[in-house]
Amino acid sequence: MTDTVVLPPASCLTEADIAPGLDLVAEIGRLRKERNAVILAHYYQDGEIQDLADFVGDSLDLSRKAAATDADVIVFCGVRFMGEVAKILSPGKTVLIPDAEAGCSLEDACQPEDFRRYRQRFPDHVAVTYINCSAEVKALSDVIVTSSNAEAIVNQLPADKPILFAPDRHLGAYVARKTGRELALWPGSCIIHEQFSERELIKLKVRHPEAKVAAHPECPDGILKHADHVGSTRNILDFVLGSAADTFIIATEKHIIHQMEKAAPGKTFLAAPGADGGCDCASCPFMAKNTLEKIYLCLRNDAPRIEIPEDLRVEALKPLERMLEMSRSVPMSGASRNAA
Ligand code: 13P
Repeated sequence: MTDTVVLPPASCLTEADIAPGLDLVAEIGRLRKERNAVILAHYYQDGEIQDLADFVGDSLDLSRKAAATDADVIVFCGVRFMGEVAKILSPGKTVLIPDAEAGCSLEDACQPEDFRRYRQRFPDHVAVTYINCSAEVKALSDVIVTSSNAEAIVNQLPADKPILFAPDRHLGAYVARKTGRELALWPGSCIIHEQFSERELIKLKVRHPEAKVAAHPECPDGILKHADHVGSTRNILDFVLGSAADTFIIATEKHIIHQMEKAAPGKTFLAAPGADGGCDCASCPFMAKNTLEKIYLCLRNDAPRIEIPEDLRVEALKPLERMLEMSRSVPMSGASRNAA
């Protein structure tokens, strides 16, 4: 865990202190009002967390929400780097995360010191960095991207400027194919999207020849080449809702299917399979760390709380602001607003 997270002191409430039978949803609602808090949730969160959030979105929409909110407190239900982004963009707000251990394999695969050395190997390159990284790596980058704006942002970079892309090599390779640009790729990947099996996907397609495949660009090309649609979580959601098809194979973290089933109850959504065809490999263990109990406790305890040293925050803010500026053409989604 990085030192950007302040943990609850030993005197704070723990899960053992929660009275059995406490109506957690009602209590979270009461605390949310009392503290003027907004609850933001990523599509990879458990359905019950998505349902109580004020706003559910992909990484870009959630960043925009965090930057624009007038709440005093942001409870970020996702993984730690998302909470860091909220704090970098909204330093005056209290940013709480339900579980300080909710990390990301892409963030782990790109340590700041290694990234600093990598950049030194490519001194003329623009560093285009996926938002799934630490605040320290952001501070060493020129522009941050998400899966919904990476292609648009790379297309805006001068054609004669060489580019390095970190830390997701599959998203980087996808962007390289889409833009025709040559990118130097950091060798990181997401443990969830890496596990989908091309062989099992083909078998599933044979059993459901009518199904459309929607995939996230964090998937390897062996999966993407079978996809009818490739996009960010929100973009995949928009695709299935706008499509005339009835059956879909979803090659990303499976909890997004919750939104799909809510919005299109008559359609069938199948999670893309892993190597043994039946594993639960489309479920992110980091995202799964967040629970209703922990959301309640973080509002009660005011922790775990994101705190970022100001010099680091200011450096990490620059490439994030560049991202927001360069993604004006990517519209905000209205698809998954709850109360906010
Ligand atoms: P998006 O929601 O931006 O598609 O990103 C998915 C992801 O990697 C979250 O960690």
